[in-house]
Amino acid sequence: MFRLRSFRLRIALTATATALAGILALSVAASLTIVHRRATIIDRMLSAHLAGPGFQATPQALWPATDAQLNASFSAFAPDGTTEAYAILRVDDARLGPLYRSPGWPRELDGAGLPDGAGLHTMDGAGRSWRIGQASSGPVTIWVGVNRNLSDAQLRASLTRFGVAVLVLAALIGALAWYLAGRAMRPVRHLTDVIVGLDANQLDQRVSAAEEDVEFAQLVTVFNAMLDRLQRSFLQAARFSGDAAHELKTPLAILQGELERHFARAGAGADPVLEQGLADMLDEVRRLDSIVRKLLLLARADAGQLAIPLCPLNLRATLDELAEDISLLDVERPLHLALPDRIGVRGDAELLGQVLQNLVSNAVKYGSPGGWISLAARAKDGHWVIDVANASNGIAAEHRLRLFDRFYRADQAHQRRVPGVGLGLSLARDIAVAHGGTLDLAAPVAGQVCFRLTLPAV
Ligand SMILES: Nc1ncnc2c1ncn2[C@@H]1O[C@H](COP(=O)(O)OP(=O)(O)O)[C@@H](O)[C@H]1O
Ligand SMILES: [Mg+2]
Repeated sequence: MFRLRSFRLRIALTATATALAGILALSVAASLTIVHRRATIIDRMLSAHLAGPGFQATPQALWPATDAQLNASFSAFAPDGTTEAYAILRVDDARLGPLYRSPGWPRELDGAGLPDGAGLHTMDGAGRSWRIGQASSGPVTIWVGVNRNLSDAQLRASLTRFGVAVLVLAALIGALAWYLAGRAMRPVRHLTDVIVGLDANQLDQRVSAAEEDVEFAQLVTVFNAMLDRLQRSFLQAARFSGDAAHELKTPLAILQGELERHFARAGAGADPVLEQGLADMLDEVRRLDSIVRKLLLLARADAGQLAIPLCPLNLRATLDELAEDISLLDVERPLHLALPDRIGVRGDAELLGQVLQNLVSNAVKYGSPGGWISLAARAKDGHWVIDVANASNGIAAEHRLRLFDRFYRADQAHQRRVPGVGLGLSLARDIAVAHGGTLDLAAPVAGQVCFRLTLPAV
């Protein structure tokens, strides 16, 4: 079924329709009563005139005056300024013939049986409908007719005026309902504004119920309770991964120490198979250790505990070291550098080094073989914009948004060949944000992939 989506419009229309239906029902009932009542009044007046004691004894010379008087008394039932006859009069004498006829007396009435005796009849003549009664005294018979069309026209005019008034009233009611419905929606709008204003990263914020109308206070309470639960489960999850990583650190350190000790003891090629096995195990344990460290850092970032010492740094030196590493590792791939002498920022040298190291190692790991790598930095609006780009076939749209998710790796096939677990970008972004900066994937450009780090410049 069709349903209006606007609550406000629905309220306004419902109110208007209800009021209109009520007014219409009332006015139909009122009109019917008025029509009936008016017909009764006209009939009684007509009968009263016919029964009047002096009526039959009127001298012939006075009939025109009587006619005028009848017209005057029925003029109240006609619209103002009518030129037609309100009432008509005919007087006949059985012996002398016609004594008087109103100028407007329709000829058609004469032929078709005029009432003969008491009682009122309705007859048509000269395109009008007449209510006609008769009185007689001796040879004199008198007929009086009242023009019903004039009465109907007056009623119609009144009803038209009333209808216009009803339309104006309906418009007013509609406007009022629209206004009131808008006012009723105000607390909802206010609440929505407040909720929209809540920062998704600051789950400790609450909406104040004191500001809202009592009808909405409960909604606020329920919403706040939901935030409580959300915050609790979020903290629980963050604490869990932090605790788990913390608990893993010590056994891993012991394992690593033991393996190193055995490796040193097995040394000097006595047992190459054992030596190779120990070396492989050491590699895996170091990888585990690096994952655990990243998880710990991420847990601290989640808890808002990534304390950043704001030491002034020159990232140019860090980037130079990374550039040197690339050149050592990757002789075939050309490396483009566009770096100013000083890239001054404030922050933790080790953490920022980790961000750049991850971006650069990704460029090496995921760039097209035989392609190029570029490191560029420029100042813009009080920030350093550092681009780490590499030649690539691009990243499919469905991966672009998720690259920064934890443990997300775009190309499943890569997972086996390229070392990594998918935590690097997520951690790098958290570190950038903790420094007041951002890390994003730059808009796609054919043939290359570019990660853009911004940091406040000093
Ligand atoms: N320069 C790049 N070119 C193409 N894909 C990239 C690039 N850098 C990152 N990716 C994709 O993003 C994923 C996540 O990267 P990251 O968080 O550093 O994890 P990891 O390097 O451990 O896989 C990678 O697995 C890779 O699919
Ligand atoms: Mg990586």
